[in-house]
Amino acid sequence: MSYDLIVIGTGPGGYVAAIRAAQLGLKVAVVEKRATHGGTCLNVGCIPSKALLHTSELFEEAGHGFAGMGIRVGQPELDLAAMHAFKDKGVDGNVKGVEFLLKKNKVDAFHGTASIPSAGRVLVTPESGEPQTLETKNILIATGSDVARLRGVEIDEQRVVSSTGALTLPEVPKRLLVIGAGVIGLELGSVWKRLGAEVLVVEYLDRILPGLDGETSNAFQRVLGKQGFSFKLGTKVTGVDTSGPVLKVTVEPSAGGEAEVLEADVVLVAIGRVPYTAGLGLSEVGVEVNARGQVVTDGHYKTNVDGIYAIGDVIAGPMLAHKAEDEGMAVAEILAGRAGHVNYGVIPSVVYTAPELASVGQNEEELKAAGVDYVVGKFPFTANGRAKVNNTTDGFVKVLADAKTDRVLGVHILGADAGTLIAEAAVAMEFGASSEDIARTCHAHPTLSEAVKEAALAVEKRAIHM
Ligand code: FAD
Ligand code: NAI
Repeated sequence: MSYDLIVIGTGPGGYVAAIRAAQLGLKVAVVEKRATHGGTCLNVGCIPSKALLHTSELFEEAGHGFAGMGIRVGQPELDLAAMHAFKDKGVDGNVKGVEFLLKKNKVDAFHGTASIPSAGRVLVTPESGEPQTLETKNILIATGSDVARLRGVEIDEQRVVSSTGALTLPEVPKRLLVIGAGVIGLELGSVWKRLGAEVLVVEYLDRILPGLDGETSNAFQRVLGKQGFSFKLGTKVTGVDTSGPVLKVTVEPSAGGEAEVLEADVVLVAIGRVPYTAGLGLSEVGVEVNARGQVVTDGHYKTNVDGIYAIGDVIAGPMLAHKAEDEGMAVAEILAGRAGHVNYGVIPSVVYTAPELASVGQNEEELKAAGVDYVVGKFPFTANGRAKVNNTTDGFVKVLADAKTDRVLGVHILGADAGTLIAEAAVAMEFGASSEDIARTCHAHPTLSEAVKEAALAVEKRAIHM
C-alpha cells in the first residue's frame, strides 16, 4: 500500500491534517504511538484540565457562591475519585470521537512508534508484533511536545508532578508548590486551590504570565491573590529534596542571593514544554532542527527535505491546540494543490481560570517596543449589567487600536467567559476591523459581550455606561 500522506502523531495538528487531506481526495494514513488518538490535548492536556477546571469551579461555587444567591445546599463534599471518573469519561468520549472521524474519512490508522528511515518511507514499530514499513509521497511530522524538565528536580508523577500527574492526584495536597506562573501553573493551581490546597506559585521572572499584556496580567494576579494564591516572583527553584515525608524545596532570588527552604506536599513543575522528536531519526534523514529543538519549516510547512513537512507544537510558534489545528488544515490544502494559510497575527490565547484571561493580537508592551502609536479603550465588567447579576464583575475588556487608522491591533479580556468573548475580537481582526466597526455593531443585551462594544466605544472616550 502506498499513501499520498502519512501523518505521524494524531494530536489536534495531525488528526485535523489527516481528515482535511482525506476530504481533499488524498490517500492518508496516521501513525500514533499512544493507544488513543487526540494527542496531548485530548489525553493529558486541554480536555482533562478543562474537565477539572469546570468541576472544581462548580465545587467552589457550591461552597461559597450559592448561598449568597439564595441557594442553600449545605457544605459540598468532595468525591475526588468520582470527579476523576467524570473527567476520564469526557476524555474517552473525545478520543473515541477522533477515532470515529478518522474511520469516517477512510484514514488508515496504525498504532506504534514511527520513524523515518528515508523520505517516502515510515517505519512503524508497534509495542508488540512486527515492525512494518509504509510507503508514501509525503510525510507530516505532528509529534507535538513534552514537559520541559528543571535541573535538580526529578519528576516522579507522584509527589513531584508535571501537568500529567497533576491531572490525576489521588488526594488534594495540603500544600501545593507550583514552579512557573504560566498557563499550566495557574490553571492546575486553580483546580487544586478550589478543592482545598494551599497554593504557592514560584516564578523565575518578576511577573506572572510573561508574554501577555502586562496591565491585564497584573490585574489578574491581584484577583488570584484575593482567591488565596500566594506568589513568590523573581525566584528560582534550585532543588527538591524528596527524602522525607514532606518535600523540601530550595529557592533563591533569580538574580542570586540567599537560599531558603520551603515545604510542600506536592510540587508541580510547569516551566514550559519542549518540541518532541525523539526516535524519529531526523538527523539520519537530514531534517533540520533548530537550537530550541523545533523542526525548521518554510512558509509552506516543508522541512529542508523534500516530501517531509511539520506542524503544531513541534515547530515554531505558540504551543496551542487551535494553532496546530489551523496548521493541519493549511498543510493539507497545500499538499492537495490549494492555498493553505494561517494568520499568525490573530491567534487567540486563553487561560481558563475564573475569571478567564483571553488575548488576541498585540499587547501594549509589544506595541511600545515596535514604536506603534496606539489608543487604549477599556471597559470594566463592574459596569456591565449582566456581569453584575451574574456576580462576575472581576476584570475588564481592553481594546488597543492604531492611533491613526483606528485598526484594532489587540484585544485583552480579563473576565468570565473571556475565552468565548475573544472570538469576536479575532473575527474582527481577521477582517481588518477598526474599533469603530466593533462599536457600531449591535450587541445583544444583556450580555457580557456588550463590554467589548463599550471598550471599543471607549477608544474615542464615548463609552455609555462608564
Ligand atoms: P500533540 O497533541 O502533542 O500530539 C502529538 C502526538 O504525536 C501524541 O499523541 C504523541 O503520542 C504522538 N507521537 C509523538 N512521537 C511519535 C512517534 N514517533 N510515532 C507516533 N506517534 C508519535 N492548548 C490549547 O489551545 N488550549 C488548552 O486549553 C490547552 N490546555 C493544555 C493543558 C495542558 C495540561 C497541556 C499539557 C497542554 C495544553 N494545551 C492547550 C496545549 C495543547 O495540548 C498542544 O498545543 C497541542 O496538543 C499540540 O498539538 P500537536 O498536534 O502539535 O501535538
Ligand atoms: P508557560 O510557558 O506558559 O509558562 C512557564 C512559566 O514558567 C513562565 O512564566 C516562565 O517564566 C516560568 N519559568 C521558566 N523556568 C522557570 C524556573 N526555572 N523557575 C520558575 N519559573 C520558571 O508554560 P506552561 O505553563 O508549562 O505551559 C506549557 C505550554 O502549554 C504553554 O506554551 C501553553 O501555551 C500550553 N498550554 C496552554 C493552555 C491554554 O491554552 N489554556 C493550558 C495549558 C498549557
